[in-house]
Amino acid sequence: LVAGIDSSTQSCKVLVCDADDGTVLRQGQAPHPDGTSCDPGAWWDALQQAIDLAGGLDDVDALAVSGQQHGMVCLDAEGRVIRDAILWNDTRSARAARDLTDELGAKTWADATGSVPVASYTVTKLRWLADNEPENVARIAAICLPHDWLTWRISGATSLESLATDRSEASGTGYYDARAGEYRYDLLAHALRIDEEAARRIVLPRVLGPNESAGQATALGLPEAVVGPGCGDNAGAALGLGVGPGDTWLSLGTSGVVGAVSDGSWHDETGTVSGFADATGRFLPLQVTLNGAPILDRVRKLLGVDYDGFDELALSAPSGAEGVVLLPFFGGERTPNLPEATASLTGMTSANTTPANLARAAVEGMLCLLGACIDRAASHGQEIHRILIVGGGSRSRAVREIAPAVLGRPVDVPPAGEYVALGAARQAAWTLSGDDVPPAWVVGDMVRFDAPHDPTVMERYEERFAAAFGER
Ligand code: XUL
Repeated sequence: LVAGIDSSTQSCKVLVCDADDGTVLRQGQAPHPDGTSCDPGAWWDALQQAIDLAGGLDDVDALAVSGQQHGMVCLDAEGRVIRDAILWNDTRSARAARDLTDELGAKTWADATGSVPVASYTVTKLRWLADNEPENVARIAAICLPHDWLTWRISGATSLESLATDRSEASGTGYYDARAGEYRYDLLAHALRIDEEAARRIVLPRVLGPNESAGQATALGLPEAVVGPGCGDNAGAALGLGVGPGDTWLSLGTSGVVGAVSDGSWHDETGTVSGFADATGRFLPLQVTLNGAPILDRVRKLLGVDYDGFDELALSAPSGAEGVVLLPFFGGERTPNLPEATASLTGMTSANTTPANLARAAVEGMLCLLGACIDRAASHGQEIHRILIVGGGSRSRAVREIAPAVLGRPVDVPPAGEYVALGAARQAAWTLSGDDVPPAWVVGDMVRFDAPHDPTVMERYEERFAAAFGER
């Protein structure tokens, strides 16, 4: 048996699976604290609880952690956490992201690291630290990400040199070149306002190969269990879903993600596409919106209905919600890069302001936000043969039925599942096998949804977007 751990923004999930075919046998889940910064100890506590709820891991031969990307965990020379981790969804470093981009130029960042920094990336949080807490910069002996820290903790290792990560996580820091497979200490030094020699003294996690072991799960009382390298949650989802070139997937969680797998590296200097690495040795061009499924929940709560009631309302309104358009930037936005944006409902008249149109506008607004990402990826040459929709938002009947009309393509919905944790479990099985390729786990049957394309929905959204924020 193998276990996959998804240490996400909101919770820790543990799946215990059959190593041969990925059948999920047991699972457990425990919450993480709310907010955009966090004491990493809370992730360890949630992991213990989730393992208990999953019936323990005594019979497991290997495990791996997939985690929320980018969060900044700084350690001192004794391996103690210096301050609360600042997470990917914390926008305090928006200014730092702009400064870093202005200082070196978007092209330099995109060429070197595959991406132009946005507030989510570790490198911008480090610049924020340099500008606001220089006393903490002086204490840094090692920098890692949430999953790296948890993997290290699980291994029971104490030396900073045993910190490990994988390409997918390193590629989200903003100071790793995934094409060359090396850290860019010059960029790290620049962000921290220190010289490169000092930056080279900071321990960064060793970047392991896709099935290279990070040690044994000693601190979990499992000295025989092999720990996989782990990966970022998006790379974990790709591995769990088994997607390949030509597949695009939309993940509707706290954030929205439009992702694909590509053989070549991406270097989009417009900053739209993040050129991350995946968990198999390829690349993972991603667009991440800060606003995802919570868009629906906010409007649902305003309307005072349950999930089914919300879906019924949205499906009872005509396509285009009679002109009501939601620009859904409740939490600022990252793609497009508008960290200070707010949400607005536009086009309301005395005739069209109905609960049904508001519900429909919420679903369409969320889909247009992601549809614009798909269009941009396609215009940058990304091949799109198939669109998959996963994540909490995909459980909404309204989302599944309205998506093909807005996106202009049929969508496939895999069975509900914890694909990030499943991807981590698959990686654990891969690490255990030592094979060249991951084990051939098959995702259950997809359900296809199709509907006539209504291009006016995206067109109207783009018009209102341009009126509010200017041309893209
Ligand atoms: C990816 C990103 C988010 C987090 C969510 O760039 O910031 O998807 O990984 O956990």
